[in-house]
Amino acid sequence: MQQDIDTLERELTDAVQAAADRDALEAVRVQALGRQGRVTQLLKGLGAMAPDERRAAGQALNQVKGRLAEAIEVRRDALEHLEIADRLARESLDVTLPIRPEAEGRIHPVSQVMEEIFQICADMGLEIAEGPDIEDDFHNFTALNIPPEHPARQMHDTFYMERGEGEAEAMLLRTHTSPVQIRTMLAGPPPYRIVVPGRTYRCDSDQTHTPMFHQLEGLVIDEATHMGHLKGTLEAFCQAFFEVDEVKMRFRPSHFPFTEPSAEVDIGCSREGGRLLIGEGEDWMEILGCGMVHPKVLEACGVDSERYQGFAWGMGIDRLAMLKYGIPDLRAFFDCDLRWLRHYGFVPLDMPTLAGGLSR
Ligand code: DAH
Repeated sequence: MQQDIDTLERELTDAVQAAADRDALEAVRVQALGRQGRVTQLLKGLGAMAPDERRAAGQALNQVKGRLAEAIEVRRDALEHLEIADRLARESLDVTLPIRPEAEGRIHPVSQVMEEIFQICADMGLEIAEGPDIEDDFHNFTALNIPPEHPARQMHDTFYMERGEGEAEAMLLRTHTSPVQIRTMLAGPPPYRIVVPGRTYRCDSDQTHTPMFHQLEGLVIDEATHMGHLKGTLEAFCQAFFEVDEVKMRFRPSHFPFTEPSAEVDIGCSREGGRLLIGEGEDWMEILGCGMVHPKVLEACGVDSERYQGFAWGMGIDRLAMLKYGIPDLRAFFDCDLRWLRHYGFVPLDMPTLAGGLSR
């Protein structure tokens, strides 16, 4: 009998050790200690034994039962630890991995620069206004104090549409964003504080001109707006846009029909060593036209020019992008060459903000 018990214990202990997971271990436990289990069966058989034998065997069996229960407990703990270690290994996360592969698309420099400009202008309290690309003569020229036969019309290299049947005059592709000044003033009473981004068109093409290009127009009209505000606004704008503390600027007297007085603004730059530096240096670069809005323009829009006055400016957005990001040829902006876009474009998720940096 003792021999049988020893063999049984060895067998069952081996089975406990061999159980590869908790289910297998449970099966071994049932097989040994369950109601129909082998140890249980032997215990049940004790009643048929002689009293002496029964005591010895009973003691031995109960000890085996205790040892097996303990072995099962120990094995269960060990298996649990193994399972946890296995899950930790399988489910571990490398937090140093990038969230996702770098986005493939690129933001076009013109879109990037527009977004930068909006950030700056919104911070100054300017609202964004827009108007149509296809304009009429009144908004593009006449209301801006450029009457028919005015020589300034020649300088605009205008694309005219074909005159439609019954139309008194041909529509045209706007040659500047200035007509949106007119549309804004006709739409409601002053004050006005707007910037106008948009496409503009002129029949012209070389390294710094394309038939379609982008302008940013600004218009600020109120009762006490003066030329000092114009200067301060443009200075603050240039410092923010070029991300420098100081920008050397020069207001050069000029002429536009829709402003009086008028000026063109140059910023200091240097081209030493083939690198263009903005804001300092001995060279000058023209970046925009501006002036105090001509009373005739205000009157054409029904704005009382005795009471209201203000300033306007216009600049080329593509030109700003070329300057800031060192892009040599404007025509490439509109070639749709993916290699160019990959080189000069911007990562989509890096949105320009004043707080986080415009270009980074
Ligand atoms: N409209 C002018 C152009 O396209 C630029 C310009 C100059 C706009 C002076 C203005 C301004 O608002 O005041 O050449």
